[in-house]
Amino acid sequence: LTGDPAKGKMAFAQCRTCHVTDPGVNMVGPSLAGIVGATAGSIKGYKYSPANASSGITWTEEQLFEYLADPQAVIPKTKMIFAGMPDAQQRADVIAYLKNPN
Ligand code: HEM
Repeated sequence: LTGDPAKGKMAFAQCRTCHVTDPGVNMVGPSLAGIVGATAGSIKGYKYSPANASSGITWTEEQLFEYLADPQAVIPKTKMIFAGMPDAQQRADVIAYLKNPN
């Protein structure tokens, strides 16, 4: 699936209640600046759940694609309370946006 970053920016509205893409700006959830390719639990200054912090995940595009469909399935006991994005194209779009959000 090829993601469309402009559409992903729109779909990211579902994430913005808890996340922004400005570096260093943590809200309910961590900043998602630089998240594609990052190690899970590594955003500076954010207090993660033990589940997320110790997941051992690397946020490749493939891993994000799976996670965003059903976060609790990939990280049981995560404190990200989000039902997930069932639409695969929308997930691909959001990931394309997150690669270069600013
Ligand atoms: C964590 C993405 C929606 C709250 C994360 C992480 C990613 C992510 C990739 C892991 C960060 C890391 O390991 O550094 C997204 C995307 C969303 C979304 C793309 C929209 C499609 C939401 C929403 C909320 C939320 C709506 C709040 C209701 C959180 C919280 C964490 C988190 C609290 C930390 C989890 C923990 O420490 O267990 N998010 N998220 N997210 N997100 Fe989201």
